[in-house]
Amino acid sequence: MAKNSNASAPVPDLSVQLGPLRLKNPVLAASGTYGYGEEYAQFVDPEALGAIVVKGISLHPRPGNPPPRLVETPAGLINAIGLENVGLENFIKQKLPYLRNRQVPVIVNIFGNFLEEYAELGSRLDAVDGIAALEINISCPNVKQGGMVFGTEPAMAASVVRAVRQTTSLPLITKLTPNVGRIGDIAKAVEEAGTDIISCINTVAAMAVDVFSRRPKLANVVGGLSGPAIKPIALRCTYEVLQAVKCPVIGIGGITNALDALEFLLIGVGAVQVGTANFVRPAAILEIIRGIERFLEVEGLARLEDYIGTLDTDCIFPFAEESCEAVGLT
Ligand SMILES: Cc1cc2nc3c(=O)[nH]c(=O)nc-3n(C[C@H](O)[C@H](O)[C@H](O)COP(=O)(O)O)c2cc1C
Repeated sequence: MAKNSNASAPVPDLSVQLGPLRLKNPVLAASGTYGYGEEYAQFVDPEALGAIVVKGISLHPRPGNPPPRLVETPAGLINAIGLENVGLENFIKQKLPYLRNRQVPVIVNIFGNFLEEYAELGSRLDAVDGIAALEINISCPNVKQGGMVFGTEPAMAASVVRAVRQTTSLPLITKLTPNVGRIGDIAKAVEEAGTDIISCINTVAAMAVDVFSRRPKLANVVGGLSGPAIKPIALRCTYEVLQAVKCPVIGIGGITNALDALEFLLIGVGAVQVGTANFVRPAAILEIIRGIERFLEVEGLARLEDYIGTLDTDCIFPFAEESCEAVGLT
């Protein structure tokens, strides 16, 4: 395809291969920001998405933390939802049937406070039809280890992945927390433990206080920051993970438009997830998919896979991004 090709050129191929997963496009809805898919159906046809990662599921229903649980910050959102969810049985009976009847891969995000809970979730979901993959959220306190978060230590992170790996043949995605010193070490450990794919990042530990009432703005005092504020952190974490492992990686964190998504794809991720942007613009994912398509047309690329991972690490100045504005991509 010639650069700046005209409208008669074929539509670029956005499909990607992520280890065992073939996706029609690389833009996924991030866990906890897209409910169970149906909530957004009036804005976006779920079948347009690369995949839907559903809200994190635990063995039993959880009410989450008391309110207030959300606070806005400049360019971000701090949440302390506390992993409220309907629980495994209700998910299978009440939520999954809607998604199972749609042509969209369903990725089930799972979490627990004990290794045994992760393993039981793995084995019970293994027997359920209509699930494309499991995403393991390891940003949870390990109750047996005094509440230390599973994902903050390589051996503990690996033990969660091994526990789930033994119970299911479903593709496994392990979702990393950025709240660690060396994210590459955690990535290596979960890859060796058998994850097929890594996704990163979860939210960044954060806090907000009110100077007049002299109180925290969240009932839980601390929470997790998401949205545009964390994109540079997410990009750096993802880059370090890509350097550390061979398995495919999904980039997450602050992706709001097609250019953001393209930054992650450029450094080498096979796909991205979009979270907080859905709260601002419910059709954000659709806009991002169309923006990536438009970018490939402008660049004269027939396949997204020809762009992924083509970062030239020689620094450039001035940046060339103004040309994106000219083609309506900002
Ligand atoms: C309200 C809210 C709820 C979330 N719930 C989950 C969850 O249940 N499981 C999980 O792994 N991540 C959860 N996340 C993290 C997101 O999936 C994502 O990793 C993070 O928000 C960064 O992406 P973003 O900046 O695009 O939002 C949640 C985020 C938000 C804002």
